[in-house]
Amino acid sequence: MSTLPDALDHRTSDHPIVPLFLQRWSPRAMSGEPLSPEERNSLFEAARWAPSTYNEQEWRFLYAVRDTAHWETFLGLLMEANQAWCVRAGMLIVGTSCKVMSRNGKPNPVHTLDCGLAVENLLLQGASMGLVCHAMAGFDRGKARAVLGVPENYDVEVMIAVGRPGSIDDLPENYRDMDRAPSGRKPLEEIVAEGPFAF
Ligand SMILES: Cc1cc2nc3c(=O)[nH]c(=O)nc-3n(C[C@H](O)[C@H](O)[C@H](O)COP(=O)(O)O)c2cc1C
Repeated sequence: MSTLPDALDHRTSDHPIVPLFLQRWSPRAMSGEPLSPEERNSLFEAARWAPSTYNEQEWRFLYAVRDTAHWETFLGLLMEANQAWCVRAGMLIVGTSCKVMSRNGKPNPVHTLDCGLAVENLLLQGASMGLVCHAMAGFDRGKARAVLGVPENYDVEVMIAVGRPGSIDDLPENYRDMDRAPSGRKPLEEIVAEGPFAF
């Protein structure tokens, strides 16, 4: 059985950071076990404590645990390429965010950003618990809105697959190499400039 590598054996930062940032990655090999309520609550608790504009907390998460009533509905939202490995996830999440400020009814220009901060909290919490947590844009947003009853004033933002680490051998063949080592990153000079935009 080929187990998932520890990202810390493959990644190094150029400057000191909390190791959890390196430890979090997006593999696909999962065991096929359902997630426990305790694990689920810890993930959403981490998301809950994210910062947001005016503390709007405008993210709303929907989930389905494997082998329960809503599982097939959530799985059916994913593009085939994501379904191929998400069949062994323990939980699937749909992230949504309210487009309108609750404080004054005006459009919220940062609702997607706020939701992304909550999602990253969730991903980092999952990494700290040794879980696979993999964000996905590859799903049908319109179908998600329709089948999950997401109201018009909310955007459907993201799906997240969560599971216990599994064997790389259980993945479809064309996905196996992607899980043998985590990705790297651009150097700081390519993403940061002092003063004006200079890339
Ligand atoms: C918003 C978002 C959407 C993504 N969509 C998909 C997806 O549909 N399918 C997939 O396999 N990976 C998806 N990913 C995972 C990225 O490919 C991955 O985060 C990126 O390659 C960096 O690798 P790492 O997360 O392992 O560090 C997505 C990630 C994010 C943040």
